[in-house]
Amino acid sequence: MSSARLPRKRFYRARAHSNPLSDSHFPVPICPSEVDYSSHYPHFFPTPKPKVRFADVGCGFGGMLVSLSPLFPDTLMIGMELRDKVTEYVKDRIEGLRATNPGQYNNISVVRTNSMKYIPNYFEKGQLSKMFFLFPDPHFKEKNHRRRVVSVQLLDEYAYVMEVGGIIYTVTDVEELGDWMKSCLEKHPLFEAVGEEEIKKDPVVKLLTSATEEGQKVARNEGQTFMAIYRRVTSKED
Ligand SMILES: C[S@@+](CC[C@H](N)C(=O)[O-])C[C@H]1O[C@@H](n2cnc3c(N)ncnc32)[C@H](O)[C@@H]1O
Repeated sequence: MSSARLPRKRFYRARAHSNPLSDSHFPVPICPSEVDYSSHYPHFFPTPKPKVRFADVGCGFGGMLVSLSPLFPDTLMIGMELRDKVTEYVKDRIEGLRATNPGQYNNISVVRTNSMKYIPNYFEKGQLSKMFFLFPDPHFKEKNHRRRVVSVQLLDEYAYVMEVGGIIYTVTDVEELGDWMKSCLEKHPLFEAVGEEEIKKDPVVKLLTSATEEGQKVARNEGQTFMAIYRRVTSKED
């Protein structure tokens, strides 16, 4: 693959963090049918109208999308990212990959949005089969825990947009956040832990730590990672 047309991160200087609780100024669709997905995936439109099935929440520089794309070439996937420069980088990265690899990477795209506020504006009930929360910002201080992208309250929204049987993947290098995400999922009545055997067979799992930029950083530093992988169920009691 030629890198001649791929963007360089140094030209996309971004702030280290954006506050997910503050109001940002970017367009927000009023409902999923208002999102012009044809502009994101022109090769898959107009008919039949395909739907996005995977969402990478807080996708950062887009490494997971880029790795997933060839594994599921007929599945539409979207990254959701709060920082504008980082979103621009991902857009340009995908455009460059499409240009240098004709016929590939047509199934991935990115939107700048605040996933804590606008998930139901993008997806209908039961639309998603996979959601990813990879190395989310830890927000260490207790008063900032409400900024975390995984919480019992937000899991209500994620459960709404996920199909029954869909899988939510979380990973972090911060043990306390790993325990937090796991306990939120464990407490939620509509998510159930995926069994060890299934995790071992799932080709997506090894990408959780190797595909993203944060994951690669952790691997270089030989850091530990903490995963929680849960399935959307109708009820834990069933
Ligand atoms: C530590 S980075 C991890 C990025 C990527 N998942 C990875 O593993 O390389 C967390 C990312 O989530 C984004 N983010 C944080 N809160 C968000 C929110 N509410 N909505 C969308 N993105 C958010 C941040 O801007 C940042 O790029």
